[in-house]
Amino acid sequence: MLRGNKVGLRARHEDDIPVLRTELYDDVVNSSRAEGGPWRPITPGSKDPRLVVDDKEQGHVPFSVVELDGNTLIGSATLWDIDTHNRSAHVGLGLLPACRGKGYGTDVVAVLCHYGFVVRGLQRLQIETLSDNTAMLRSAERNGFVREGVLRSSAWVMGEFMDEVLLGLLAQDWKQESRA
Ligand SMILES: CC(C)(COP(=O)(O)OP(=O)(O)OC[C@H]1O[C@@H](n2cnc3c(N)ncnc32)[C@H](O)[C@@H]1OP(=O)(O)O)[C@@H](O)C(=O)NCCC(=O)NCCS
Repeated sequence: MLRGNKVGLRARHEDDIPVLRTELYDDVVNSSRAEGGPWRPITPGSKDPRLVVDDKEQGHVPFSVVELDGNTLIGSATLWDIDTHNRSAHVGLGLLPACRGKGYGTDVVAVLCHYGFVVRGLQRLQIETLSDNTAMLRSAERNGFVREGVLRSSAWVMGEFMDEVLLGLLAQDWKQESRA
């Protein structure tokens, strides 16, 4: 398990799946805002890759996020689109509604940076998020990500086009906290 100050990132367990499906992916607005594509329901028991991990998929590393204090599931985090030639990857995360706004998101980004830069030896991490997603923007910026551009009207979300912000962080600009 990877440990931050408040959160741990561990493998996906079977009993995480119904919780994540109900709390994150059955929520049409949250899913439409956080995913790049259209919302559609996930059938219980299906092998949807957002929930069921394919360990052979080398470019995509999904984690379940737990609170270190109590070990309870609080969300999902992914290092995705890992490009071993350009040594880059994308960061994605989603917390259960009751667990937002408590500093966990900032800590999850820190742990994904540690995984990307230290464990995987990557050079660049990237995040795309809606321009009104203050919590995601701040979680990224707190970890040193900088805004590199605005993708105007790039996302169709619940009946309107929205701008996305692209943020990047390079290994040499990352201020690593000491962590076990
Ligand atoms: C985005 C998300 C992961 C952020 O995690 P979080 O735990 O809620 O964020 P934190 O508590 O670490 O807060 C980070 C910063 O955002 C601010 N913030 C948190 N919630 C906020 C809100 N609803 N409105 C405005 N600011 C907010 C905090 O004050 C903090 O600011 P600071 O660093 O200046 O003190 C989480 O809110 C979430 O899962 N949202 C739904 C899914 C999602 O949007 N995923 C990202 C898709 S790209």
